[in-house]
This record gives sequence, structure tokens and C-alpha cells, in this order.
Amino acid sequence: MKLSTPEFRAMQSLPRKWGQRHFEMPVFQRMGLDLKNKDVLEIGCGSGYGAYLLSSLDPKSYIGIDVMEEQITLAQKDHPQFEFILQSAEDLSRFSDASKDVVVIFGVLHHIRNWRKAIDEINRVLKPGGSFFLEEPRGVDIKIFDAFFRWGHPDTDFGLNALDAHLTQLGLVIHTKQWTPLLTMYHIKKR
Ligand SMILES: C[S@@+](CC[C@H](N)C(=O)[O-])C[C@H]1O[C@@H](n2cnc3c(N)ncnc32)[C@H](O)[C@@H]1O
Repeated sequence: MKLSTPEFRAMQSLPRKWGQRHFEMPVFQRMGLDLKNKDVLEIGCGSGYGAYLLSSLDPKSYIGIDVMEEQITLAQKDHPQFEFILQSAEDLSRFSDASKDVVVIFGVLHHIRNWRKAIDEINRVLKPGGSFFLEEPRGVDIKIFDAFFRWGHPDTDFGLNALDAHLTQLGLVIHTKQWTPLLTMYHIKKR
């Protein structure tokens, strides 16, 4: 779903970029994020700062998708060297089965009504042995953001317990899971 205007602005802010660069990326790297010579798909790439950070790890290829036209326009303008596509995570049919080594999400599933379908699609495009790096806020943190900053998140049944249950149901393995303030971070492996 499209972001509210306050959240859209917050996602372009320096504090957001600082956090992504100096906190989230290092945590993912400690959890095993290694992109060298890998085919990488980022879901909900926003305005492309994740592409900039991920590409510093030397992937073979990078594609970012996002459902919001304003985000893709900004990403293409600010980072013309990377590939960005206007596309919902619920339909990854443009990507073949088992075509990606690594899928990365920086805080997106809690915006998707049919988030289970998005995970089904990620599971399909991942190669056996591939990795899925994911960070999402807990339900209580989403409520705090909405109360204090009026971000107006969509009402979905997304939650970390439901997420873990769906990953397990698909046979995906939660290799590492780390609680941090505001975000829970995962390294998920496909067998
Ligand atoms: C909280 S923002 C995070 C943006 C960026 N990943 C970051 O960390 O700064 C969530 C992003 O997910 C995108 N999004 C929401 N629903 C989506 C969907 N169904 N498929 C792909 N992207 C989606 C939004 O447009 C937005 O850019």
C-alpha cells in the first residue's frame, strides 16, 4: 500500500538513512548478509537508498521493486545506475522460479494486506540455499509510530508470530532472529 505523506517524508529523511546505514546494514551483515556475485532482489526499495547500500557489497545483479510510483521515480532519479521497477510484492511473476540468491526487505511486509502472498512469491523466486533478510517492526511499535507521528499504517493481520508461523509452514528456516529497538531482524534460509 502507498505510504501516508508523513511516513513518505520520514522515509526520505537523514535519520532514516543514518539508521539504515549505521545500524540495520551492520546487523544484517553480522547475521550473514553477503552479496558478492549474488543476484539480489529488494522488496519495497523506497527511494533507493537500500540499493546504494546493498550495491556496496558487490552483487552480480540488483533489482528493487516498490508499489509506489513516487518512490520509484525518486529512486530512478537519485540512483540511475540501479534497476527499479514499479511492482507489487504480491506478484513477482516477472521473475522466474529459483532466480534470486538473496531477497532483502527493510520494513515493508506490515504495509501489505496480503503479506503471506508476498512471502509465497519470495519463496518461489529464491534459489534453494538462498537467503531472505527481513526486518519488520512489532505490532506495538507500529501503534507507537501511528500515535506519535500519525503515519497511519494499514490495518492488516501482520504480526511477528503470524510471520514466523507462515515461514515455518512454507518450510523456510529462521536461521537467525534478532530483536533490536523498533525492529526485529531475520536471516531466513530456503532449504
Ligand atoms: C516503510 S517504507 C520502507 C522503504 C525502504 N525500504 C526503507 O527502509 O526506507 C515501505 C515501502 O514499502 C512499499 N510497499 C508497500 N506495499 C508494497 C507492495 N505490496 N509491494 C512492494 N512494495 C510495497 C512502500 O511504497 C514503501 O516504499
